Amino acid sequence: MQKISIVVAVSSNGVIGRDGDMPWKLSTDLKRFKALTMGKPLVMGRKTFESFGSKPLPGRPHIVVSRRAKLDMPAVETAINLEDALLKARQQAQALGVDEICVIGGGEIYAQALPLADILHVTHVNAVIENGDTFFPPIDSDCFDVLSEEAVPAGEKDSYATRYVVYGRQKTI
Ligand SMILES: NC(=O)c1ccc[n+]([C@@H]2O[C@H](COP(=O)([O-])OP(=O)(O)OC[C@H]3O[C@@H](n4cnc5c(N)ncnc54)[C@H](OP(=O)(O)O)[C@@H]3O)[C@@H](O)[C@H]2O)c1
Repeated sequence: MQKISIVVAVSSNGVIGRDGDMPWKLSTDLKRFKALTMGKPLVMGRKTFESFGSKPLPGRPHIVVSRRAKLDMPAVETAINLEDALLKARQQAQALGVDEICVIGGGEIYAQALPLADILHVTHVNAVIENGDTFFPPIDSDCFDVLSEEAVPAGEKDSYATRYVVYGRQKTI
């Protein structure tokens, strides 16, 4: 069974989005996002897909979740709920020979996927963001362990310094 990974960037006060976009520019993190997700199926909500101009990111199959019966999105696969999306993502992963599915947002989809996730790739953004309207749920330390951690200073094209943390779900015996 493929791992379900969540990939997210979140501020110190839990914000991931504002006005349909991300409230920062993090070029260094985008590069890591690209390397991490390349070749793997991406599951996302309809609003997140629209937030990058409804244009698929190259080299990664997209599965876009929407309750709408008719979505005019010919460039991507659509799914009627998260369960349907994960099923389709698993089929894509199998066909591609990869062992990971990446759930890439936004707030609604993260909230539903967190209980199912095996791995969390979290970019903790060192900032308190005012007027955020989309949030990531708190990470329960009774469920997830820190597997690795890396401080990343703000580069020229980064709004803030970050801390990249990989969390793994605790194994139940
Ligand atoms: N910081 C980060 O790492 C990060 C990553 C991704 C996104 N974001 C930000 O997050 C914000 C978007 O997040 P969001 O919470 O507003 O929207 P979202 O989760 O991207 O998409 C929500 C939409 O997904 C569909 N959906 C959700 N649950 C569903 C279900 N169970 N069954 C069927 N369809 C379902 C619905 O689409 P329909 O309305 O079409 O039915 C819903 O309106 C933006 O600001 C974006 O920039 C941040």
